[in-house]
Amino acid sequence: MSRPLRSAGWTAGDDETALEHRVALRMGGAHVSASDSRPIIGIAHSASDLNPCNLPLAALADAAARGVTEAGGIPVIFPTISLGEDLMKPSAMLYRNLLSIEVEETLRSNPIDGVVLLTNCDKSTPGALMGAISTDLPTILAVGGNRPAPFFQGRRIGTGTDLWRMLDRRRAGEIDNATWNEFENCYACGTGSCNTLGTASTMALMAEALGFSLPSAGTVQAGSTRSVQIAEASGRRAVELVEWDLRPSRILTPAALHNAAVVLQAVAGSTNAVLHLAAIAGRAGLSFGQDMLQRIGSAVPVLTDVEPTGQYLMAELDEAGGLPTIVGVLGELIDPAVVTVTGGPLLGGASAAWGVAVRPLHDPVFPGPAIRGVRGSLAPDGAVLKAATSSPQLWRHRGPALVFSDYLQMRARLDDPDLEVDEGTVLVLRGCGPIGVPGMPEWGMVPIPQRLAERGVTDMVRVTDARMSGTSYGTVFLHAAPEAALGGPLALVRDGDPIVVDVEDGRLDLDVEASELARRRAAWVPPVSEHLRGWPALYQRHVMQAPSGCDLDFLVGDTAAKRRFVEPVIGRS
Ligand code: FES
Repeated sequence: MSRPLRSAGWTAGDDETALEHRVALRMGGAHVSASDSRPIIGIAHSASDLNPCNLPLAALADAAARGVTEAGGIPVIFPTISLGEDLMKPSAMLYRNLLSIEVEETLRSNPIDGVVLLTNCDKSTPGALMGAISTDLPTILAVGGNRPAPFFQGRRIGTGTDLWRMLDRRRAGEIDNATWNEFENCYACGTGSCNTLGTASTMALMAEALGFSLPSAGTVQAGSTRSVQIAEASGRRAVELVEWDLRPSRILTPAALHNAAVVLQAVAGSTNAVLHLAAIAGRAGLSFGQDMLQRIGSAVPVLTDVEPTGQYLMAELDEAGGLPTIVGVLGELIDPAVVTVTGGPLLGGASAAWGVAVRPLHDPVFPGPAIRGVRGSLAPDGAVLKAATSSPQLWRHRGPALVFSDYLQMRARLDDPDLEVDEGTVLVLRGCGPIGVPGMPEWGMVPIPQRLAERGVTDMVRVTDARMSGTSYGTVFLHAAPEAALGGPLALVRDGDPIVVDVEDGRLDLDVEASELARRRAAWVPPVSEHLRGWPALYQRHVMQAPSGCDLDFLVGDTAAKRRFVEPVIGRS
């Protein structure tokens, strides 16, 4: 390495602190000399028994370390908080920004020249990436991969999507207890991320589309030989990224975000990605949002035939060649003026590689745009709809509101046989935004009320300031901003108020007289948080709204001065 290494600030020299640093690294297995020219590569991973999605990462950390060593670097493996979607309550989203802080500060405070981020479950990919982007140290990301698919009643089970479908059938009275229990035993099918195109798969594809992962790394299958090979190759590449001085600031550009938006629409990815990409962009002083998606999306059909939009699983998308195949099909819709961790642009694969899970442009799964934005008097700063998994017959709708002021109230009232609701009712779930809970859980896919489900109703218009799982479906207007806890219009809705949606016109309105709304606003009392200390209190004080990606206001890199990475003073600790 001809350039001075960042880590040399810790390890070079003959004073007592350099000696102490070299000894500390040696005790961890990294033998570093005073004149060492090998880069030290951090390998961040979050394998945890509390997070089955990330369990494959322990083995991949060793594989990445082998790759670093092979390429002439020094690997140092370090743990991070494990954001498991299933068990963390109220939502792993509450801790995404905490992970980003942990990654940023671990990198800042240690002798690390570049980093391999090993991630998998939904929030771990954006959280780790946000932290690394803020350091602007050479970064590569590899995911642990999708879990295998079990068989239930003769067909393969897609994580999340098939659970929600089973729940719908159970609420419709079609599934008895024995079948439900049989499904539970079948559903635990191994470690790795959801095998559908949920948020984890979407974010793995986004990391690759942005240029932070090796080609086809985003669709790798958990436990496969290829997942080990990609981790090793990512370790090797991390050393080269340091040699090339290829930093996130060169990779994360407006063109890279354009490509991410195109791919997000082409795969009908999770609506959560809209938030995560906004937060990722914000760290680099860039922007990403529903207007960009709308602009790009009208030209991008849905190409991937994967649940919840299509019929196959991530394994078939991987067999079809993954992102390079999608990029190849998208052709000129992809901006070539980007640089990725390969050192070159985002490359498209050969069309001969198409499998069943990727369609050609002229025969899409859905015409697009897969994700659409709306605005109006009910959501002045916007809301999003996963149009690809919604019901087009509900895109123009006017119906009376039925309001649930929080999640527990919704769960308690939803199956009340006396609930005044029919299929034209608009279900409103509020108080579930980033400040409200806090952490904006995936509560937005409000179940169809029992008596309507029993009558065969499968979809209704729903409006919420919550998120929903990337594996979910339905005509759900999500991320309504400003949220109710901040006094957004959602806070003022009452049962029976007419709500008007028009997806083609991009509208979401509350049809109530302004004078009446003014009266309600004057009487509105802001909710009082129970969180007086700790991370939730800090989060509530600083979290921004959905259009800003729910990042914390003091983490955003909106000026050059804020983006400057401040090195620690290196001396005695
Ligand atoms: Fe972890 Fe889906 S719950 S990836």
